[in-house]
Amino acid sequence: MSFPQRRPRRLRATPAMRRLVAETQLSVSDLIAPLFVREGIAAPEPIASLPGVVQHTVPSLLDEVKRLVDLGVPGVILFGIPLVKDAVGSEAWNPDGIVQVALTECRQAFGDDIVLIADLCVDEYTDHGHCGIVDEAGRVDNDATLDLYANAAVAQARAGADIVAPSGMMDGQVLAIRDALDEEDFTDTSILAYSAKYASALYGPFREAVDVTIADGGDRRGYQQDWRNGREALTEIRLDLGEGADMVMVKPALAYLDVIARARVEVDVPLAAYHVSGEYAMLKAAAANGWIDGDAAALELLGSIKRAGADFILTYLAAEVAEKLNG
Ligand code: PBG
Repeated sequence: MSFPQRRPRRLRATPAMRRLVAETQLSVSDLIAPLFVREGIAAPEPIASLPGVVQHTVPSLLDEVKRLVDLGVPGVILFGIPLVKDAVGSEAWNPDGIVQVALTECRQAFGDDIVLIADLCVDEYTDHGHCGIVDEAGRVDNDATLDLYANAAVAQARAGADIVAPSGMMDGQVLAIRDALDEEDFTDTSILAYSAKYASALYGPFREAVDVTIADGGDRRGYQQDWRNGREALTEIRLDLGEGADMVMVKPALAYLDVIARARVEVDVPLAAYHVSGEYAMLKAAAANGWIDGDAAALELLGSIKRAGADFILTYLAAEVAEKLNG
């Protein structure tokens, strides 16, 4: 009996050897921390379904961003919870709205030490919880919504966002935002498009975090992607690149590693993946029960997203994983 000459396990023998031949790396520079900032609260409030994550006040947000800067995390993405919600989500572009205030303060405190990304959508700001204007039939009016996104983009750029990240899955949103930004001379503000965003059951804890209940038991299947579709994600990505997206994203991450891998082959721009609230909650729940080793699983799961082809990962694990990678 003859064995093949090359035996893979030779290359697994020692930690140094494994490090030498590792095909991918997970590093602190790959991580973006999603942060919630809430108007009108005096102290940070925990989010039950996202253990370890809180709704911040502006001062506590600044403390957390400082910690992330010190850990070497390159960026944060901000989500706002306004005091008042209305039919069109007007707090999303109010210059004194909570995210605009938070962006301004972060920019002032940290200069260019951290990349400031603003999630650009109106669902946190609308009283019906949809990502756009709802018509009389209860459907989201795609084209009417584009004007709202343009307003929000300009307000966020003016407040200091380096990157705006449209997450509402309206057709034409990237073009509308790019035009509005350029018109106001924010030509250097980048767009990270949530291009392939699925109507997922994994956003539940996020909705608790931002106080969103979709009116009349509704959902987002009318505008977010159907999880049965993979090729369609590539169409969405191509459209967004054509409209001027600087970076594209796949969301969620772990149930869509195939989509990430296919997108990687197609695009040369930076590719992001969002390890979403439900993915974090599942990991934390199993770890809290002692059913899995949470620390090891966190590295393996985020590592798999890198291996699939993502350049960076938005994850609620950012700070704790950065601590581990640094330590
Ligand atoms: C929409 C938005 C959502 C998330 C990010 N941006 C929720 C949704 O589409 O319903 C989910 C993120 C997560 O679950 O961590 N503004």
